[in-house]
Amino acid sequence: MRPMDPELPEHVARNRASWDRMAAEYAEPGARAWAADEPRWGIWGVPESELRLLPDDLEGRQTIELGCGTGYVSAWLARRGALPTGIDNSPEQLATARRLQEQHGIEFPLVLGNAEATPFADASFDFAISEYGAAIWCDPYAWIPEAARILRPGGDLVFLGNAALLMLTVPALEVDGPAGELLLRDYFGMHRFEWPDEDSVEFHIGHGAWLRLLRDSGFEVIDLIEIRAPEGATTRWTNIATPEWARRWPSEEVWKARKR
Ligand SMILES: C[S@@+](CC[C@H](N)C(=O)[O-])C[C@H]1O[C@@H](n2cnc3c(N)ncnc32)[C@H](O)[C@@H]1O
Repeated sequence: MRPMDPELPEHVARNRASWDRMAAEYAEPGARAWAADEPRWGIWGVPESELRLLPDDLEGRQTIELGCGTGYVSAWLARRGALPTGIDNSPEQLATARRLQEQHGIEFPLVLGNAEATPFADASFDFAISEYGAAIWCDPYAWIPEAARILRPGGDLVFLGNAALLMLTVPALEVDGPAGELLLRDYFGMHRFEWPDEDSVEFHIGHGAWLRLLRDSGFEVIDLIEIRAPEGATTRWTNIATPEWARRWPSEEVWKARKR
Protein backbone atom coordinates (compact mmCIF):
# COMPACT_ATOMS: atom_id res chain seq x y z
CA MET A 1 0.00 0.00 0.00
CA ARG A 2 1.26 3.53 -0.79
CA PRO A 3 1.98 5.79 2.22
CA MET A 4 -0.53 8.65 2.77
CA ASP A 5 0.58 11.89 1.08
CA PRO A 6 1.07 14.46 3.90
CA GLU A 7 0.48 17.30 1.40
CA LEU A 8 -3.13 16.25 0.76
CA PRO A 9 -6.07 17.32 2.93
CA GLU A 10 -6.89 14.49 5.37
CA HIS A 11 -10.13 13.42 3.63
CA VAL A 12 -8.42 13.43 0.21
CA ALA A 13 -5.56 11.23 1.47
CA ARG A 14 -8.04 8.82 3.07
CA ASN A 15 -10.18 8.69 -0.06
CA ARG A 16 -7.09 8.04 -2.21
CA ALA A 17 -6.14 5.03 -0.10
CA SER A 18 -9.74 3.82 -0.05
CA TRP A 19 -10.23 4.15 -3.84
CA ASP A 20 -6.91 2.48 -4.56
CA ARG A 21 -8.20 -0.48 -2.52
CA MET A 22 -11.63 -0.49 -4.26
CA ALA A 23 -10.34 0.07 -7.82
CA ALA A 24 -10.27 -3.65 -8.78
CA GLU A 25 -14.04 -3.94 -8.11
CA TYR A 26 -14.72 -1.01 -10.46
CA ALA A 27 -12.69 -2.34 -13.41
CA GLU A 28 -15.44 -4.62 -14.77
CA PRO A 29 -18.34 -2.12 -14.47
CA GLY A 30 -15.98 0.49 -15.95
CA ALA A 31 -15.22 -1.77 -18.92
CA ARG A 32 -18.96 -2.32 -19.52
CA ALA A 33 -19.63 1.42 -19.41
CA TRP A 34 -16.77 2.11 -21.86
CA ALA A 35 -18.33 -0.40 -24.27
CA ALA A 36 -21.89 1.04 -24.00
CA ASP A 37 -23.19 2.74 -27.14
CA GLU A 38 -25.44 5.15 -25.25
CA PRO A 39 -24.50 6.88 -21.97
CA ARG A 40 -26.52 5.54 -19.02
CA TRP A 41 -26.46 7.42 -15.76
CA GLY A 42 -26.37 6.55 -12.10
CA ILE A 43 -27.35 3.42 -10.26
CA TRP A 44 -30.51 2.89 -12.38
CA GLY A 45 -28.77 3.29 -15.72
CA VAL A 46 -31.18 5.96 -16.97
CA PRO A 47 -30.38 6.57 -20.65
CA GLU A 48 -28.99 9.89 -21.85
CA SER A 49 -31.95 10.19 -24.26
CA GLU A 50 -34.19 10.58 -21.16
CA LEU A 51 -31.98 12.56 -18.80
CA ARG A 52 -30.13 14.76 -21.30
CA LEU A 53 -27.15 15.63 -19.13
CA LEU A 54 -24.81 16.33 -22.05
CA PRO A 55 -24.76 19.46 -24.22
CA ASP A 56 -26.13 18.87 -27.74
CA ASP A 57 -22.95 20.04 -29.42
CA LEU A 58 -19.69 18.77 -27.96
CA GLU A 59 -17.65 18.98 -31.16
CA GLY A 60 -14.23 20.45 -30.34
CA ARG A 61 -15.32 21.34 -26.76
CA GLN A 62 -12.74 21.05 -24.01
CA THR A 63 -14.27 19.07 -21.17
CA ILE A 64 -13.12 18.12 -17.69
CA GLU A 65 -14.39 15.13 -15.73
CA LEU A 66 -13.84 15.74 -12.02
CA GLY A 67 -13.20 12.39 -10.33
CA CYS A 68 -13.20 10.45 -13.60
CA GLY A 69 -12.48 7.00 -12.12
CA THR A 70 -12.25 4.55 -15.01
CA GLY A 71 -12.96 7.41 -17.45
CA TYR A 72 -16.05 6.10 -19.21
CA VAL A 73 -17.92 9.43 -19.09
CA SER A 74 -14.96 11.12 -20.81
CA ALA A 75 -14.91 8.30 -23.37
CA TRP A 76 -18.59 9.03 -24.15
CA LEU A 77 -17.69 12.72 -24.53
CA ALA A 78 -14.75 11.88 -26.84
CA ARG A 79 -17.05 9.80 -29.07
CA ARG A 80 -19.28 12.88 -29.38
CA GLY A 81 -16.38 14.98 -30.64
CA ALA A 82 -15.22 16.57 -27.37
CA LEU A 83 -11.61 16.94 -26.26
CA PRO A 84 -11.83 15.49 -22.75
CA THR A 85 -9.48 15.57 -19.79
CA GLY A 86 -10.06 13.43 -16.71
CA ILE A 87 -8.72 14.13 -13.25
CA ASP A 88 -8.82 11.57 -10.46
CA ASN A 89 -7.29 11.14 -7.03
CA SER A 90 -6.63 7.39 -7.31
CA PRO A 91 -3.59 6.05 -9.21
CA GLU A 92 -5.26 2.62 -9.37
CA GLN A 93 -8.49 3.94 -10.91
CA LEU A 94 -6.41 5.85 -13.47
CA ALA A 95 -4.44 2.67 -14.26
CA THR A 96 -7.76 1.00 -15.22
CA ALA A 97 -8.73 4.09 -17.24
CA ARG A 98 -5.41 3.89 -19.15
CA ARG A 99 -5.92 0.19 -19.92
CA LEU A 100 -9.43 0.91 -21.25
CA GLN A 101 -8.13 3.82 -23.34
CA GLU A 102 -5.68 1.44 -25.01
CA GLN A 103 -8.33 -1.25 -25.58
CA HIS A 104 -10.74 1.21 -27.19
CA GLY A 105 -8.14 3.33 -29.00
CA ILE A 106 -9.51 6.51 -27.38
CA GLU A 107 -6.76 8.57 -25.78
CA PHE A 108 -7.22 11.71 -23.67
CA PRO A 109 -5.22 13.23 -20.82
CA LEU A 110 -5.68 11.56 -17.43
CA VAL A 111 -4.35 13.64 -14.56
CA LEU A 112 -3.65 12.37 -11.05
CA GLY A 113 -4.87 15.07 -8.68
CA ASN A 114 -7.42 16.47 -6.28
CA ALA A 115 -10.50 17.96 -7.95
CA GLU A 116 -10.69 20.50 -5.11
CA ALA A 117 -7.39 22.10 -6.23
CA THR A 118 -6.61 21.22 -9.85
CA PRO A 119 -3.46 22.13 -11.83
CA PHE A 120 -5.48 23.71 -14.67
CA ALA A 121 -5.36 27.38 -15.67
CA ASP A 122 -8.38 29.65 -15.15
CA ALA A 123 -11.09 29.31 -17.83
CA SER A 124 -9.59 26.17 -19.42
CA PHE A 125 -12.79 24.21 -20.12
CA ASP A 126 -16.18 24.55 -21.84
CA PHE A 127 -17.93 21.78 -19.88
CA ALA A 128 -17.35 20.08 -16.52
CA ILE A 129 -19.01 16.88 -15.34
CA SER A 130 -18.91 14.53 -12.39
CA GLU A 131 -20.89 11.35 -11.93
CA TYR A 132 -20.30 10.21 -8.35
CA GLY A 133 -16.75 11.66 -8.49
CA ALA A 134 -16.10 15.11 -7.01
CA ALA A 135 -19.90 15.22 -6.75
CA ILE A 136 -19.80 13.16 -3.55
CA TRP A 137 -16.12 12.62 -2.62
CA CYS A 138 -14.94 16.23 -2.57
CA ASP A 139 -15.87 18.99 -0.18
CA PRO A 140 -18.40 21.09 -2.13
CA TYR A 141 -17.08 24.28 -0.52
CA ALA A 142 -13.71 23.52 -2.19
CA TRP A 143 -14.59 21.80 -5.47
CA ILE A 144 -17.48 24.02 -6.64
CA PRO A 145 -15.39 27.25 -6.55
CA GLU A 146 -12.59 25.29 -8.26
CA ALA A 147 -14.96 24.12 -11.01
CA ALA A 148 -16.06 27.74 -11.45
CA ARG A 149 -12.43 28.86 -11.76
CA ILE A 150 -11.51 26.39 -14.51
CA LEU A 151 -14.72 26.81 -16.56
CA ARG A 152 -15.09 29.49 -19.21
CA PRO A 153 -18.01 31.93 -18.88
CA GLY A 154 -21.09 30.22 -20.34
CA GLY A 155 -19.64 26.76 -19.62
CA ASP A 156 -21.89 24.19 -17.96
CA LEU A 157 -21.25 22.13 -14.85
CA VAL A 158 -23.29 18.93 -14.45
CA PHE A 159 -22.97 16.63 -11.46
CA LEU A 160 -24.83 13.56 -10.29
CA GLY A 161 -24.77 11.97 -6.84
CA ASN A 162 -26.94 10.58 -4.07
CA ALA A 163 -30.11 12.57 -3.40
CA ALA A 164 -30.44 14.51 -0.15
CA LEU A 165 -33.43 12.41 0.91
CA LEU A 166 -31.47 9.20 0.46
CA MET A 167 -28.70 10.54 2.67
CA LEU A 168 -31.22 11.06 5.48
CA THR A 169 -32.87 7.65 5.18
CA VAL A 170 -30.07 5.21 4.38
CA PRO A 171 -28.83 3.42 7.53
CA ALA A 172 -25.15 3.38 6.47
CA LEU A 173 -24.32 3.65 2.82
CA GLU A 174 -23.16 0.36 1.24
CA VAL A 175 -23.02 -1.35 4.64
CA ASP A 176 -26.44 -1.55 6.27
CA GLY A 177 -28.78 -0.11 3.64
CA PRO A 178 -31.11 0.17 1.87
CA ALA A 179 -32.85 3.48 2.51
CA GLY A 180 -36.05 3.13 4.52
CA GLU A 181 -39.03 5.31 5.39
CA LEU A 182 -37.61 6.96 8.52
CA LEU A 183 -35.47 10.06 8.73
CA LEU A 184 -32.34 8.85 10.53
CA ARG A 185 -30.29 12.02 10.70
CA ASP A 186 -30.53 15.78 10.59
CA TYR A 187 -30.98 17.68 7.35
CA PHE A 188 -29.76 20.97 8.77
CA GLY A 189 -25.98 21.03 8.93
CA MET A 190 -25.46 17.96 6.72
CA HIS A 191 -22.04 18.09 5.10
CA ARG A 192 -19.39 15.47 5.93
CA PHE A 193 -20.34 11.77 6.11
CA GLU A 194 -18.24 8.92 7.46
CA TRP A 195 -19.65 5.43 7.75
CA PRO A 196 -18.76 2.79 10.31
CA ASP A 197 -16.28 0.22 8.92
CA GLU A 198 -15.41 2.45 5.95
CA ASP A 199 -12.26 4.50 5.76
CA SER A 200 -13.59 7.02 3.29
CA VAL A 201 -15.21 10.42 3.63
CA GLU A 202 -18.18 11.70 1.61
CA PHE A 203 -19.88 15.06 1.36
CA HIS A 204 -23.58 15.78 0.90
CA ILE A 205 -25.33 19.08 1.52
CA GLY A 206 -28.97 20.16 1.37
CA HIS A 207 -30.68 21.79 -1.58
CA GLY A 208 -30.67 25.33 -0.19
CA ALA A 209 -26.97 25.00 0.61
CA TRP A 210 -26.20 23.77 -2.95
CA LEU A 211 -28.17 26.61 -4.45
CA ARG A 212 -26.38 29.28 -2.41
CA LEU A 213 -22.94 27.71 -2.93
CA LEU A 214 -23.42 27.52 -6.70
CA ARG A 215 -24.66 31.10 -6.93
CA ASP A 216 -21.95 32.42 -4.60
CA SER A 217 -19.32 30.63 -6.73
CA GLY A 218 -20.43 32.38 -9.93
CA PHE A 219 -22.94 29.88 -11.34
CA GLU A 220 -26.50 30.31 -12.47
CA VAL A 221 -28.52 27.23 -11.52
CA ILE A 222 -30.17 25.71 -14.60
CA ASP A 223 -31.85 22.62 -13.20
CA LEU A 224 -32.10 20.15 -10.36
CA ILE A 225 -33.18 16.77 -11.71
CA GLU A 226 -34.38 14.36 -9.04
CA ILE A 227 -34.00 10.95 -10.63
CA ARG A 228 -36.89 8.52 -10.42
CA ALA A 229 -35.97 4.88 -11.04
CA PRO A 230 -37.55 3.81 -14.34
CA GLU A 231 -40.34 1.25 -14.05
CA GLY A 232 -38.85 -2.25 -13.88
CA ALA A 233 -35.33 -0.90 -13.33
CA THR A 234 -32.81 -2.97 -11.40
CA THR A 235 -29.52 -2.06 -9.80
CA ARG A 236 -26.54 -3.81 -8.27
CA TRP A 237 -26.83 -1.20 -5.49
CA THR A 238 -29.93 -2.59 -3.75
CA ASN A 239 -28.00 -2.13 -0.51
CA ILE A 240 -28.49 1.61 -1.09
CA ALA A 241 -32.05 1.80 -2.44
CA THR A 242 -34.57 -0.73 -3.70
CA PRO A 243 -36.37 -0.08 -6.98
CA GLU A 244 -39.65 0.26 -5.04
CA TRP A 245 -38.15 2.96 -2.81
CA ALA A 246 -36.64 4.80 -5.76
CA ARG A 247 -40.01 4.85 -7.55
CA ARG A 248 -41.42 6.75 -4.56
CA TRP A 249 -38.52 9.02 -3.57
CA PRO A 250 -35.47 10.42 -5.36
CA SER A 251 -32.36 8.32 -4.72
CA GLU A 252 -30.14 10.41 -6.98
CA GLU A 253 -30.03 14.02 -8.08
CA VAL A 254 -28.35 15.97 -10.86
CA TRP A 255 -27.44 19.63 -10.61
CA LYS A 256 -26.94 21.63 -13.79
CA ALA A 257 -25.34 25.06 -13.52
CA ARG A 258 -23.86 27.58 -15.94
CA LYS A 259 -20.80 29.70 -15.25
CA ARG A 260 -21.85 33.38 -15.44
C1 LIG B 1 -17.46 6.16 -8.28
S1 LIG B 1 -15.98 6.79 -9.04
C2 LIG B 1 -16.60 7.93 -10.20
C3 LIG B 1 -16.30 7.50 -11.58
C4 LIG B 1 -17.41 6.89 -12.33
N1 LIG B 1 -18.33 7.87 -12.87
C5 LIG B 1 -18.16 5.84 -11.54
O1 LIG B 1 -19.31 6.11 -11.15
O2 LIG B 1 -17.60 4.76 -11.32
C6 LIG B 1 -15.39 7.91 -7.80
C7 LIG B 1 -14.03 8.48 -8.16
O3 LIG B 1 -13.83 9.71 -7.47
C8 LIG B 1 -12.45 9.79 -7.23
N2 LIG B 1 -12.15 10.82 -6.22
C9 LIG B 1 -12.36 10.76 -4.89
N3 LIG B 1 -11.91 11.89 -4.30
C10 LIG B 1 -11.38 12.66 -5.30
C11 LIG B 1 -10.74 13.92 -5.33
N4 LIG B 1 -10.54 14.63 -4.21
N5 LIG B 1 -10.32 14.39 -6.52
C12 LIG B 1 -10.50 13.69 -7.67
N6 LIG B 1 -11.09 12.48 -7.70
C13 LIG B 1 -11.54 11.97 -6.53
C14 LIG B 1 -12.07 8.40 -6.79
O4 LIG B 1 -10.68 8.18 -6.84
C15 LIG B 1 -12.88 7.55 -7.74
O5 LIG B 1 -12.15 7.16 -8.85
